[in-house]
Amino acid sequence: MSVTVRSFAKINLGLYIGPPRPDGFHELRTVYQTIGLYDLITIGVRRGAGIEILSADSRVPTDATNTCYRIVERAMAALGAKGRVTVEIEKRLPVQGGLGGASANAVATLLALERALKKRLPQADRLRIAAEVGSDLPLFLVGGTALGVERGEAVFPLPDLPAIPCVIVTPEIGVSTPRAFADWDRKVAEKLTVSAPSDRINRFGHVLSAWLSDASGASARSRSRAESPLLDLVRTGIENDFERVVFPQYPELRDFKSVLEGAGALYASLSGSGSALYGLFRTRDAAKRAAAKLKKAGVPAQATSTMTRRQYWKRIFD
Ligand code: C5P
Repeated sequence: MSVTVRSFAKINLGLYIGPPRPDGFHELRTVYQTIGLYDLITIGVRRGAGIEILSADSRVPTDATNTCYRIVERAMAALGAKGRVTVEIEKRLPVQGGLGGASANAVATLLALERALKKRLPQADRLRIAAEVGSDLPLFLVGGTALGVERGEAVFPLPDLPAIPCVIVTPEIGVSTPRAFADWDRKVAEKLTVSAPSDRINRFGHVLSAWLSDASGASARSRSRAESPLLDLVRTGIENDFERVVFPQYPELRDFKSVLEGAGALYASLSGSGSALYGLFRTRDAAKRAAAKLKKAGVPAQATSTMTRRQYWKRIFD
């Protein structure tokens, strides 16, 4: 029995880094948003034992360090299932790209494995197992627009907002997330940031609660939403703290952000710790034109759109 699923990517609409915690992770605040770019994951279960990871992309690890391997190990134990599991990864997203590719692959693996075995884990168990494998996994068990807190693994669905056209730039640069966090800590220690980490976390709270209270209905007449609620969110002045440490290291990424803005993006930002960047556009045509312009200038870019929670869950298995 084999099952193929889409493994959709995410972007971060703002990311605030708080103080390091006793476990070495950092307190985070972010809004995750799933988008239409994806990898394909095919799961096969046969008689026997063991886990086999297959990918034509040599950058994908095929050993026990692979996030898909790690989630299969845990899911098989939790489901009390036996068999030889093969995971085929057709990579279309960048590796180490800030789009959550490896995390999405693992969650897609879990969902396909459940389907192949005709067994399901309770959502609480799925979330726990996902969080054990990585901070960026649980968001893919929610999809759409989701608030991420604690180390990013505690996720809460936000109102399912209309999809918005976007352009994703995927430079051929792999940014190490642990290194980006360490660089951030150094900046904080040298007092080179605008505010203390706890103030950053509070600032995010203010931005988000202002947006949510505005988004929750009654103000529709008084403060007409001329555009998308997602644009309203990013226009609250939301920022990605990683830009402050990643841009100085890879100045071309800052240039790509400017190119997106120059191509008409209403908002552009680094996603996660990068190296992917995104731009949000008013129309599909504007996004397509911008992607074509970037590609012509030699910058790898694709037009897509953000995915609502409903679309996300529908298209995983379509
Ligand atoms: O959870 P994940 O495996 O994605 O984290 C990778 C690394 O990123 C961690 O080992 C840690 O160094 C860093 N990290 C962090 N704070 C977070 C998330 C990740 O310091 N909230």
